[in-house]
Amino acid sequence: MITPRVLLTTGGAGFIGSNFVHYCQGQYSKGQYSKGQYSEICVLDALTYAGNRATLGDLEGQDGFHLIEGNICDAGLVAQILAAHQIDTVVHFAAESHVDRSISGPAAFVQTNVVGTFTLLEAFRHHWQERGKPEQFRFLHVSTDEVFGSLGPDDPAFSEVTPYAPNSPYSASKAGSDHLVRAYFHTYGLPTLITNCSNNYGPYQFPEKLIPLMCINILLGKPLPVYGDGQNIRDWLHVEDHCRALEAVLLKAKPGETYNIGGNNQVKNIDIVEQICDLMESWAGELPISPKKLITFVGDRPGHDRRYAMNIAKIQRDLSWQPHYDFATGLKQTVDWYLTHRDWWQPLLSDEYQGYYAALYGDRP
Ligand code: NAD
Ligand code: DAU
Repeated sequence: MITPRVLLTTGGAGFIGSNFVHYCQGQYSKGQYSKGQYSEICVLDALTYAGNRATLGDLEGQDGFHLIEGNICDAGLVAQILAAHQIDTVVHFAAESHVDRSISGPAAFVQTNVVGTFTLLEAFRHHWQERGKPEQFRFLHVSTDEVFGSLGPDDPAFSEVTPYAPNSPYSASKAGSDHLVRAYFHTYGLPTLITNCSNNYGPYQFPEKLIPLMCINILLGKPLPVYGDGQNIRDWLHVEDHCRALEAVLLKAKPGETYNIGGNNQVKNIDIVEQICDLMESWAGELPISPKKLITFVGDRPGHDRRYAMNIAKIQRDLSWQPHYDFATGLKQTVDWYLTHRDWWQPLLSDEYQGYYAALYGDRP
């Protein structure tokens, strides 16, 4: 019999965080665990451009669910939430997460990803120590495969012992936060866990990322910007599989452990874009222009990592976790979701987004 947890998810109004909150509420049929795992779920989210209150609209007002608008860098607020709700489990998603934005504006990445993570760790450490270091407490830090750098075509996949070699301000800030989390386990014995995951896809991803951007631009008849030669490789994992992995780590892993999570699914960017074009073309509705005609090769992302791949043997062996989705099924489901959820993404194409888009793609060679 497991005692229900009192959960704080930071960044729970973003892409993966909101999927995780819905998953914990037992809303996904493939979920292994029931709603009873959590007696209360709090979300702390600054509702930056990437956070969306509407994504959690179905949960607001429900017993045991609290959405708190606030910044993880606000030490007083974090301490107050931990105490008031008697939090025993933190799942830390909040971050600046987009590599292109980290190139044009790195300061916010250092602030949220490094200082914000430090602020949370300090608050959670005091909270845990003041309560006599209870056994059940956990701090799960959600990180990325990008901390390991870039692979050549024949290099073996990243494992948990691959040395860190981050190449963008985003990945460097995530690497910094990973090191802080590790240090809090080794120095204070704080029961931390780290996961490093590959590229996620699925519902509720902000329009700036590759898959939603391609879906939305096809629907709007806008060019599909493929960076460089389009041969960069990412290892794609459906977000629901990521949520199952996080829950397995939370419930079964020993404090201090790190786990790599990925889909065993390496795909070239250009192949994904073409698959999205084909899926859209087979849709019964009308498109402004045949999608493949919109594919446009544009100047490369500075410092663009060539290839990521994750060795997931450790989580498969220790925690019996496997990705469930095959990519063809998951991508079709995701494309269908963007086709049928215009009411979700249309309001996100705000003036701020248009300004960001024009600055990134406007004068690109
Ligand atoms: P996202 O950008 O969609 O969401 C981030 C959320 O954090 C938003 O709701 C935003 O409002 C919130 N936030 C940002 N700064 C904040 C602050 N200072 N205080 C409180 N809230 C703040 O990101 P995502 O794609 O859902 O990624 C979530 C986490 O998972 C990140 O830590 C990211 O590094 C990691 N990750 C993402 C992927 C991926 O493919 N998306 C893969 C591996 C790891
Ligand atoms: O690997 C995990 C990471 O995946 C996460 O840590 C990040 O938070 C998440 O944003 C994602 O990073 P990427 O940079 O890989 O994702 P993005 O969707 O921005 O780009 C995926 C690939 O597609 C990358 O090689 C760049 C390319 N791309 C992207 C965009 C937005 C294009 O070719 N054109 C585009 O317009």
